[in-house]
Amino acid sequence: MDKYIIHGGNKLKGTVALKAAKNSVLALIAASVLTEEDVVLKNCPDLVDIANKLKIINSMGAKALYNGKDIFINAKNASNTDISNTLAKTLRSSFVLLGPVLARFKRAKVYLPGGCDIGARPVDIHLDALRKLGVRITENKNRIICDASAMKGGDIVFKYPSVGATQNIMMAAVCADGKTTISNAAKEPEVNDLQNLLNMMGAKIEGAGTSLISIEGVRKLHGAIYKPIPDRIAAGTLVIAVLACGGEVTVTNCCPYHIFSLFELLKNNYCSVDYGDDIITIKSDGRLAALPDIFTDPYPYFPTDLQPQITALSALCYGTTRITEKVFEKRFNHVKELEKMGAQIYVNDKTAIIRGIDEYKGAEVTARDLRCGAALVIAALNAKGISIVNDVDYIDRGYENFEETLKGLGADITRVRECRRKSLKKIFDK
Ligand code: EPZ
Repeated sequence: MDKYIIHGGNKLKGTVALKAAKNSVLALIAASVLTEEDVVLKNCPDLVDIANKLKIINSMGAKALYNGKDIFINAKNASNTDISNTLAKTLRSSFVLLGPVLARFKRAKVYLPGGCDIGARPVDIHLDALRKLGVRITENKNRIICDASAMKGGDIVFKYPSVGATQNIMMAAVCADGKTTISNAAKEPEVNDLQNLLNMMGAKIEGAGTSLISIEGVRKLHGAIYKPIPDRIAAGTLVIAVLACGGEVTVTNCCPYHIFSLFELLKNNYCSVDYGDDIITIKSDGRLAALPDIFTDPYPYFPTDLQPQITALSALCYGTTRITEKVFEKRFNHVKELEKMGAQIYVNDKTAIIRGIDEYKGAEVTARDLRCGAALVIAALNAKGISIVNDVDYIDRGYENFEETLKGLGADITRVRECRRKSLKKIFDK
């Protein structure tokens, strides 16, 4: 895997235009399987997770391509409903193909997505809901075989507002006979985005953004050209980076109200946050007072996907900050790495207690997952001296050209590509 060499201490200055949200585009790609007509998704970022999702739907027989800006998909010839584990294992979001595949083909064979560095990531909410819609599901080790020939609408109550399960069931039910309701549905903006695309394709869905979503089954969906919402986690990551390094950065093509939970934490602190409809300007001299107690929770509360980043920032605040991770059971992999850079963090079960230090010191650290990687980069940009961040390929999953973006804002960051030595055998075999 590649690494970053970062010489910390530079302030960040400049403007960044955001692209479409990874966590929305991944669901919208799945929705394209529901029609035989073209679906175009505009202004999408060049991310590993998006590339892998497109590979999966190509393996099903669809035609998907990305021209560096827009994604073009036509799933007319899709027919393979046996989704390969090799590809599925590359990203958890592959499981959010189950709903649309069942809606279109009435059958599917998928693998249980494994757990990952942040938790067990079960899919019981997805499967219980599909069973309530009449899908016959057999589980054989980590294989899930589904028969949706008798699927019809029904009333579902989620035990937890799972984002992926909400998206899966919206798509499973979109052409089912009758009406489906999802109570305790996820309210994330990415769910709203999916409702907007599906309705543009001819679906009849209401309520996304609230806890109650209703889906009236329709006969058929048609194609659409759609511009997904900007990436709220990329926006929040940039805002937190400026707060950690100091400087003044403007983020354009964003939705400020998607991260009001972050702005709430910054009220009456030593920074200024100005925003308009699709723009944020963040100014800071790089030192904040301790933040109020932070709890990650489903939208509209503070997002778990910004927790590693704000943990890195909290270590630089005067005083002590407490952060409780309520969404995933083990999302503190970044703590050990931040401690190598001088952070003083005590983790007790789901709560991290972070005592402020003056500045990080350069060190060699390793990204354990996507958002952990972003947090380590933020710390390294602040650190006195040189840091090495290993395994930055994780960051490519969710941030487009992260090092170029930061370099453009004045950061001293270089990517060192690990020479991918071919095995001797391959060299001799060629
Ligand atoms: C989505 O994952 C995002 N990924 C995650 O972002 C994000 O952290 C998460 O939502 C929460 O906001 C994508 O959209 C691709 P969940 P998802 O189902 O849908 C439990 C990133 O960094 N749960 O809302 O998998 C689960 O274990 C990624 O971009 C069950 O118990 O999240 C977790 O504790 C990381 N049973 C909680 O719910 C289920 O059947 C939230 O999971 C499903 C989930």
